[in-house]
Amino acid sequence: MSDSPVSHHQAGAPQESPDSGASNEQKAQMEQAYQQMQRKMRISKMDANIKHKIMVLSGKGGVGKSTVATGLALSLARRGKKVGLMDIDITGPNVPKMLGLEQADLNVEEGQIHPADGPSGLKVISMAFLLEDPDKPVIWRGPIKLGAIQQFIGDVAWGELDTLIIDFPPGTSDEPLTVSQSLPGIDGVVIVTTPQEVALLDSRKSINFAKTISIPVLGVVENMRGYTLRGTSTPNSKISVMGPGGVPIDCHSDEDGKWEITLDVFKSGGGEESSKEMGVPFLGSLPFDPGIVRGGDDGVHRIIAEPDGETARAFESIVESILEQLDKGSQRTLRII
Ligand SMILES: Nc1ncnc2c1ncn2[C@@H]1O[C@H](COP(=O)(O)OP(=O)(O)OP(=O)(O)O)[C@@H](O)[C@H]1O
Ligand SMILES: [Mg+2]
Repeated sequence: MSDSPVSHHQAGAPQESPDSGASNEQKAQMEQAYQQMQRKMRISKMDANIKHKIMVLSGKGGVGKSTVATGLALSLARRGKKVGLMDIDITGPNVPKMLGLEQADLNVEEGQIHPADGPSGLKVISMAFLLEDPDKPVIWRGPIKLGAIQQFIGDVAWGELDTLIIDFPPGTSDEPLTVSQSLPGIDGVVIVTTPQEVALLDSRKSINFAKTISIPVLGVVENMRGYTLRGTSTPNSKISVMGPGGVPIDCHSDEDGKWEITLDVFKSGGGEESSKEMGVPFLGSLPFDPGIVRGGDDGVHRIIAEPDGETARAFESIVESILEQLDKGSQRTLRII
């Protein structure tokens, strides 16, 4: 066999690199260990270069995590902050589509992936960028998937950031655990829920999960709170519309004839109640907005399409609450970098 596992260094032999006698297997192991060490060094540098890291979680799928993660990132970026958005969802990475970045060209230099440039200077990286065919389902066994995430985290060249927002697949599965173990200094978790009972139940699980892994809960965002219908009619007249379940909802037009009625599509106020009950901050709510669905499909987020609209303002107010929580957190904990 040519690949002897033992290396024999002889006195007087020409200068050789220390691994020149190693077997292929040993060389591969050494190479792997070296790369892992480099990745660890990069991650600790990354920790120092990124001021805040926020994970966006939900217990239930489809409640709007990716929409909220993207909206928070854009809202922060529009305030002039340097923001990164990392989409860790391998099986359903939606962030590139929501930002119109599906065709993004990624630059790889010295083994590091440079994030794509999104709107308002947002830096974006998604597992979707690494998949050959976005329509092909990804069926990776757990350990392979988690290994890929670990590697992915260490290989992104973010540079200096004020905030990194991390979007996850639904549930308190292995992904958030892996990220929290691989990336030090996570400031906290934002939990997204819709106001209906099933989602609230799951959001309680997410809160308990964050507590179990000792990451602060920055708070709960209640998404799809209510859908507001607006119109004009005769001034000071009674308006009646048929609400969900055939229940009529009444209101009065004002002296200019304007009226509005909010339909609680998924009920309302549950997010606030459950955050109170669980002793975590309530960060605010987002309206049910068909423009969010359109924006998600067209690749132009609602915040970009209508920066002064109701949804953009709701995001701004949630960002304010998050910044407040981060402020409180930095006063509470002494970070050693
Ligand atoms: N406030 C809202 N108003 C109307 N539609 C919304 C709102 N928030 C999200 N949506 C829509 O709901 C759908 C699910 O949203 P999104 O993909 O953000 O959820 P998710 O929690 O990330 O899903 P998954 O669990 O699959 O990752 C999308 O079609 C999105 O456009
Ligand atoms: Mg998602």
